[in-house]
Amino acid sequence: MQYRPLGNSGIEASIVGLGTAAIGGMETQIPDDDESVRAIHAALDAGITLIDTAPSYGWGHSEEVVGKAIKGRRDQVIIATKCGVWWEDERGSPNGVKDGKEVTVSLRPDTIKIEVENSLKRLGVDYIDLMQCHKAAMPPEDTPIPETMGCLMDLKEQGKIRAIGVSNVSLDQLQQHHNAGDLSSDQFRYSMLLRDREEDILPYCAEHNIATLTYWSLEQGLLTGKVGPDRVFAENDFRGNAGQWLPWFKVENRQRLQDMFAGWADLTEKHDCSIGQLTIAWTAAQPGSTHVLCGTRTVEQGIDNAGAGAVELAADEVQRIRDDVINLGDPV
Ligand SMILES: NC(=O)c1ccc[n+]([C@@H]2O[C@H](COP(=O)([O-])OP(=O)(O)OC[C@H]3O[C@@H](n4cnc5c(N)ncnc54)[C@H](OP(=O)(O)O)[C@@H]3O)[C@@H](O)[C@H]2O)c1
Repeated sequence: MQYRPLGNSGIEASIVGLGTAAIGGMETQIPDDDESVRAIHAALDAGITLIDTAPSYGWGHSEEVVGKAIKGRRDQVIIATKCGVWWEDERGSPNGVKDGKEVTVSLRPDTIKIEVENSLKRLGVDYIDLMQCHKAAMPPEDTPIPETMGCLMDLKEQGKIRAIGVSNVSLDQLQQHHNAGDLSSDQFRYSMLLRDREEDILPYCAEHNIATLTYWSLEQGLLTGKVGPDRVFAENDFRGNAGQWLPWFKVENRQRLQDMFAGWADLTEKHDCSIGQLTIAWTAAQPGSTHVLCGTRTVEQGIDNAGAGAVELAADEVQRIRDDVINLGDPV
């Protein structure tokens, strides 16, 4: 496993991060908590130290499962959680109804302080390593950025959090957060199929020593090579209809991706790795990219994803993969 700094925070974390959105449970998908705990243990045993969670993943459930899994292993883990998705009362800006809950986006200091206490309790810890503003770009959020950052700086001063991050921001919003306090990381969507952030966020983070935590870098399993054209998704799995808005989920394009992966057989053989590991290693090798979050549901996935941290691609291999990636269009 390779480890890299989380920006200017003085914290180091594994380049492969374990994502825990799925183990929190989504809408009608009920997770298997025992397998989730085993998956987290397997990932930690394989060298992963970075675990990304959020209160909204299963409405507290993901944080509780992470808390259960890290009992007795606190010192081996860098916990990244989030604030800003609020469902306790009407404070914040309306953000729709999810799982029957009226959700708002709130980055007000009063709700952040409550969220931090709730997260500490659910995780069973007395500090959080990285606190990220979850939907820091969702309009209409009316808390001025300096107020939010000031609150997070106070929490850092108090030792309740060790570092501050944002998620889902534009370049302008990233700069504003950066100017308003100690910003250590930015979390955003980025994969070899969706590379817009190479134009703005990644160069800025590289220049200003801000760590990047990329999500959906596996495109919901598609870029592991294990979700081929024949895969039938459960009725409540959004991936079954994802072809309507994500071109790469269309059955014919899943086949084209399989053909693309077949062309990398010499690379997986040389590096003794899986397609998923090649994808993660490629993502982590991009300029500005430091940490890659991989959603992990099972022990097998935990071990597979962690293994990517040992794969180091040569510059010509990174370029070759980039040249080979087929253009499947843009999300609708
Ligand atoms: N900040 C944000 O707004 C935001 C948004 C989204 C995600 N995130 C974070 O980023 C993390 C990653 O995103 P994600 O979990 O949504 O998507 P992802 O990492 O692209 O995909 C995860 C899914 O891919 C499959 N998978 C993972 N590893 C695999 C392997 N080795 N072999 C085969 N299949 C594998 C699993 O699905 P199956 O087992 O069901 O096939 C898993 O649930 C999240 O868990 C969360 O922590 C943050």
